[in-house]
Amino acid sequence: MAILKIARMGHPVLRRRADSVADPTAPEIQRLLDDMAETMADIGGAGLAAPQVHVPLRVVIFRVPAERLSGAEDDVAQDLAALINPVIEPLGEDMELGWEGCLSVPGLKGAVPRYSRIRYRGVGPDGAAIDRTVSGFHARVVQHECDHLDGILYPQRMTDMRLLMFVEEGARYPISLEPA
Ligand code: NI
Repeated sequence: MAILKIARMGHPVLRRRADSVADPTAPEIQRLLDDMAETMADIGGAGLAAPQVHVPLRVVIFRVPAERLSGAEDDVAQDLAALINPVIEPLGEDMELGWEGCLSVPGLKGAVPRYSRIRYRGVGPDGAAIDRTVSGFHARVVQHECDHLDGILYPQRMTDMRLLMFVEEGARYPISLEPA
């Protein structure tokens, strides 16, 4: 296992579309997942996508801690999980604004609109199909991580750039996001 270097905004690996994984059960994918898990445990965060560690493959890991849940139906806690070749389908048009940060955009946070409810599908590291319907924070994390696979960072999803700020300043001058 190894702690991997994080690519920061501006690195081309974060702008390109990542490639599909041919064999999700391959040993090198398992090794990548182990290293990503160790990296995320070291720096914190709710999720990490392979391009963030300079690997342009459609692989993400994420977790949904119970204390971050919105209370919405289908916003369910999740221990560390891996998702390979994910596909997201928004369920409905509803979007909600929520704060996001990103290990590739250190020190900043921003308010980002995301679909309230999504279905995501993909493959787990054991080769088994994953098919879940989730909402709230769970849906937000998955949308954020999967955007990395298409070369999209959260500031590109923002609709009000006044809500992009340094985490420290946000803590000094808190803004509460009203439901849209
Ligand atoms: Ni990110």
